[in-house]
Order: sequence, then C-alpha cells, then structure tokens
Amino acid sequence: MGRLSNKVAIVTGAASGIGAAIAKLFVEEGGQVILTDLSPEGETYAQALGRSARFVRHDVTDEEGWRALTQEVLEREGHLDILVNNAGIGNAPHPSTPDVALLDDWRQMLRVNGEGTFLGCKYGIAAMRAAAGGSIVNMSSVASATPTSMNAAYGFSKAGVAQFTRSVAQFGAPLRIRCNSIHPGYTATPILQGLFDKIERDMDISGAQARQRFEELVPLGRLGEALDVAYGVLYFASDESRHVTGAQLVIDGGSTLGKPAVQATQ
Ligand SMILES: NC(=O)c1ccc[n+]([C@@H]2O[C@H](COP(=O)([O-])OP(=O)(O)OC[C@H]3O[C@@H](n4cnc5c(N)ncnc54)[C@H](O)[C@@H]3O)[C@@H](O)[C@H]2O)c1
Repeated sequence: MGRLSNKVAIVTGAASGIGAAIAKLFVEEGGQVILTDLSPEGETYAQALGRSARFVRHDVTDEEGWRALTQEVLEREGHLDILVNNAGIGNAPHPSTPDVALLDDWRQMLRVNGEGTFLGCKYGIAAMRAAAGGSIVNMSSVASATPTSMNAAYGFSKAGVAQFTRSVAQFGAPLRIRCNSIHPGYTATPILQGLFDKIERDMDISGAQARQRFEELVPLGRLGEALDVAYGVLYFASDESRHVTGAQLVIDGGSTLGKPAVQATQ
C-alpha cells in the first residue's frame, strides 16, 4: 500500500482489460488516477474506483486531445508523474498475413498503437518537464520480438513501440524522465477474446479450441491475467524502479522461452 502516494497518473485505454486493472491497482497504491479511453464505459468504472479516480474520454490518436488532457491535468492536479500508454488495438477487421493485409488496416494499427504512443510520450514529456521528472510506461507485447504471421501489422506496431521506448528513455534521462516498456504474452482480456473469435470465423477450429492451444504454449500453464501485467506496470511507475530506464519487462508465463526437446522433471 502507498507505493504511489502523492503521484498523479494518466492511464490510457483504462475502460477495459489491462488498463482497467492498472488503474485499480494504482488507486489501491495511493495514486491519483486519470483514466482515459475512447469508450465511455470508463466513466462508470472510474466512479466505482472512488474519489482518487476520474475519467476523461480521449482518443489517443487525437493530438489536440493530448494537448488539452495534459494541460487540464496540470491545472487541476498540479503535476503529472506517471503516464501509461496502454491503449491499443489487436485485430484488424480483415486477415493480417503479409500476403493479404489491407493497407487501411495496416495504417489503423500503426495509428493507434504507434502514433498513439508517440503522441502520449510527446505530451507526457512536455508535462513532466515542468516538474522533477516522471515515469512513462509503454505497452508493447511479446509480439515485438516474435514473428506474428497471422497478425503481422500488430507485431510491426509493437516492435515500433519497443524501439521508440528506448529512444524516449535516452532522451528523457537528463530530464529525470524514465521510459520503460511492458511486453505481455497471452493475457485473458477482450482483445485476446477478439482474436479467438476471429480464428473461429476464419479457420476450422472453435474459439474454445483456439484458447486451449494458446494455453498449451505457456510453460506456466495458463493465460495471463490483467493483474499479472498491472503488477509489472506498478513497478515501473513507482520509485522502486528509480534507476531503471529503457528496460523491457516480459510478462508471458514463459511463452517466449520455447519448449525443450526433453523436459527434465527433477
Ligand atoms: N491481452 C493480451 O493478450 C495482450 C498481449 C500483449 C499486449 N497487449 C496490449 O495491452 C494493451 C491493453 O490491451 P487489453 O488486452 O487490455 O485489451 P482491451 O481491448 O481490453 O483494452 C484496450 C482498451 O484500449 C481502448 N482503445 C482502443 N483504441 C483506442 C484509442 N484510439 N484511443 C483510446 N483508447 C483506445 C479500448 O477502448 C479498450 O478499452 C494493448 O496495447 C494491447 O496491445 C495485450
């Protein structure tokens, strides 16, 4: 308790899944949290979190919206200490294999996951510059480093987020602004359910079978939960990581380790 006392945080994409779990954990740890999302459902959720939370409807691709949001936070709360660029999309409406991906889908993926993160960092840095520094946490994915032939645009966008995070870390260090990325594996949220639904529509297996196949890829034996990821974000947001910048934290139940040819059991 109290790991974020006196800190003001913006969490984007906080109406659902991982963002909602981050916002709740931040409030529990004493933070003042501004939840943002495209979806108006964030309003109800923020109210349920109590007086330390409020909601601002915002599309992360809207630059004017970022300017207004960060200005308003500085006016109302006086400072911005933490920014979590979590909002993202995972599935294009059409297949996203390298041979048939549609340019419009590709651009939309890059707009939300890539440009949204860029704009967040740009206005987050401007707001944190006024104070004694801050912490920016960008949501990448294990898809930044492993091939994603069924969702090529997604992997491309998340690799960009990972690389950009390190540029921001290098730039921000003299300003005492840290920037780190989180790389979740398969985490049970609406975005992943969307993928299972898509597989059911496009391929010859049910959504439940798809889920089981994904679970089998995780050495720790289950899909991640939103809270598993939120705990990692809390570490980067809090002063416990005060000497950490440009780092990449993988939270994937070991799925990127691969499986050994022979498994030792003792
Ligand atoms: N769930 C997973 O398996 C997984 C794995 C790796 C990375 N991630 C990443 O974690 C983040 C959160 O995903 P999630 O699993 O909680 O999914 P989710 O769909 O539950 O939540 C994403 C939220 O982002 C919001 N959003 C989408 N576009 C937006 C925009 N333009 N502006 C503002 N808000 C917008 C949505 O309304 C939604 O509330 C994403 O960046 C995602 O790519 C998820």
